[in-house]
Amino acid sequence: MPGQYSSRCATVPDSSTVVQVLTDLSGTAHLKPLYENTDGPSYEFLKGLVAQAHCQAWCLLRDEQAVAAIWYQCAGERADMIDLRVLASSRRQGLGRRLLRASLTALEGVMTVDLEVRESNLAAQALYRTMGFEDTGCRPDYYATASGREPAILMSLSLSVDDVIR
Ligand SMILES: CC(C)(COP(=O)(O)OP(=O)(O)OC[C@H]1O[C@@H](n2cnc3c(N)ncnc32)[C@H](O)[C@@H]1OP(=O)(O)O)[C@@H](O)C(=O)NCCC(=O)NCCS
Repeated sequence: MPGQYSSRCATVPDSSTVVQVLTDLSGTAHLKPLYENTDGPSYEFLKGLVAQAHCQAWCLLRDEQAVAAIWYQCAGERADMIDLRVLASSRRQGLGRRLLRASLTALEGVMTVDLEVRESNLAAQALYRTMGFEDTGCRPDYYATASGREPAILMSLSLSVDDVIR
């Protein structure tokens, strides 16, 4: 069974950050630094995604700088998390957890969130587990690596009715 998003994950007040809904990337070039020299989806890919009706996305601003962004593709009551990324120089400050938590609360009409993560990405897996995600499977040889392939760990989280803003 997928994990359950619990009320223990309520948003911690932080007046230094602002969560911004992404609806159109035309005016959000400030997101580009998040995707430079990284191995996840490219800025150009995400730019195409945000224009589509099934995409829900948010970024986290600190001092007007984008320090994190999260992207989902939604179908019915399920959402696939496409990417969560924190600016490299801003990691381990609670920003990834802050934006993930805020987005899980704001996702419209979604009851289950699914994601795939590299087996070697222990930082992301640890974050997801602290938020209640549970392992639901494994896809062998899913991601390319410098020396070959590595598996994807599949994780899911069930949102309770109380967590979902409709
Ligand atoms: C994964 C990522 C989003 C985490 O963001 P972050 O802002 O650094 O994480 P937080 O500071 O909010 O940490 C929250 C929890 O995640 C876990 N965590 C985060 N970074 C970790 C690390 N380097 N090692 C171990 N655990 C880590 C910890 O459980 C941490 O809780 P704690 O600080 O109480 O121990 C960030 O490292 C990142 O952007 N990585 C590159 C992109 C990526 O891999 N995205 C995931 C794609 S599926």
